[in-house]
Amino acid sequence: MSVLSVIGGQWGDEGKGKVVDLLARQVEVVARYQGGANAGHTVVADGKEFILHLIPTGILHPHVHCIIGSGVVVDPVALVDEIKQLREGGIQVGGNLVIGKRTHMIMPYHKVLDSHMEELLGVNRIGTTGRGIGPAYSDKAARLGIRVCDLYDEKVLADRVRVSLAIKKRLLAGISLDEEERRALEEDYILEVCDEVREILAPHVRNTDAEILEAITNNRRVLLEGAQGILLDLDMGTYPYVTSSNTGVGGALSGLGMPLGKVGAVVAVMKAYCTRVGQGPFPSELHGDEGERLRLGGGEFGATTGRPRRCGWFDAVAACHAVQVTGADALVVTKLDVLDNLDSIRICVGYEIGGKRITTFPAEATILERCIPVYEDFQGWKEPTAGVRNYGDLPVKAKEYLSHLGRLTGKPIWMISTGPDREDTIEVRNPFSVIEEGLG
Ligand code: GDP
Ligand code: IMO
Ligand code: MG
Repeated sequence: MSVLSVIGGQWGDEGKGKVVDLLARQVEVVARYQGGANAGHTVVADGKEFILHLIPTGILHPHVHCIIGSGVVVDPVALVDEIKQLREGGIQVGGNLVIGKRTHMIMPYHKVLDSHMEELLGVNRIGTTGRGIGPAYSDKAARLGIRVCDLYDEKVLADRVRVSLAIKKRLLAGISLDEEERRALEEDYILEVCDEVREILAPHVRNTDAEILEAITNNRRVLLEGAQGILLDLDMGTYPYVTSSNTGVGGALSGLGMPLGKVGAVVAVMKAYCTRVGQGPFPSELHGDEGERLRLGGGEFGATTGRPRRCGWFDAVAACHAVQVTGADALVVTKLDVLDNLDSIRICVGYEIGGKRITTFPAEATILERCIPVYEDFQGWKEPTAGVRNYGDLPVKAKEYLSHLGRLTGKPIWMISTGPDREDTIEVRNPFSVIEEGLG
């Protein structure tokens, strides 16, 4: 039962890419199970930076078999681009990358819908990545989606594109579209796009559900690479300011066709502070200079859209919710080094609303928006932790800060990241050793 699930424990961008890359050395399979090219997973290796959007981060390790499962929404054009870019960067992409036949595709018209929906929402917009994620998952649920397997049956493809487009045209009637957007609603153009990717993707298309079962049956080490974070989860996140998939382990089971009870451990990756991109409530957000300091110190600009990330203190209320609904066994804390120069550091330990103190994470975005954070204050360590690789070498106050994160979330910290580079990591416990010793 050597399956490890790595999940974002906040609002995304926690450093999942770095963590997955590091653990990928020890595994045979890395699988993405949800999300799409809205993700941006950064790995820094030997001074080189790679940003993975759709392809599992394991691709940087030639021995790893990478699976894009059926729960992902694949933009085939973006995928072909990503394959090309990786190859140009000297990364081997061949039989080591497979895409599920059942995987739904993001079509150019999904991006048109995404941007116009945002426009129509106005002040209520979500602040999406504009990658067509919501509309593609909506089509999947409405049974109007186009799947990877449809690429290889031209009649089915033409029929499905025709039906789906007829409905899209009705939805967009009366909205003024530019030339490119109008083209995205033309059947011939969509079929042309499909023609362009069909042969390139063909060698990668497989029954990934069977491959996952085979890996599990043969006791191979499998890493499930979550995208986004649990606070962006469609069910457990800050709805409606969420993404359109299930980012937790439930998403992995359905998105890969995994048998129940095979996940050995779940780790939630959390920054030592918090960030969020796009709209939505964020009680511990810092405005002004303090937020700017974290943004600059942590290089907090979106890996997919380049947007500045909103920054704030670690929110233990949100973290407890994350731990509860992900079933996390442990935390991986990243970006500790970003706090190195601060005189004092705060952790949000509760919220105040209407004069009352609460420690549960409200379901209503409107209530969460009105929550005033209650903080515990800690002295900063004011010593570099950047690049520290042994727990013993951390400043005492940094260790104390970490132990507060553990205390407040009730979970052990298995790994600590102290810099963007693969090697800048403290391994307190090796997750696979924990699983295999039966303690997970
Ligand atoms: P992901 O989406 O969860 O994979 O995270 P992103 O790649 O979007 O954002 C994390 C950013 O922080 C990337 O630029 C990483 O290179 C960087 N990073 C990851 N871990 C650390 C760390 O411990 N310290 C610092 N300073 N940067 C880190
Ligand atoms: P990774 O995997 C951070 C956010 C968007 C927006 C909301 C909905 O790199 O952590 P969508 O395009 O999914 O419909 O946008 O979700 N979002 C992310 N924020 N990291 C991500 O991915 C994200 N993927 C989507 O900013 O608020
Ligand atoms: Mg990211």
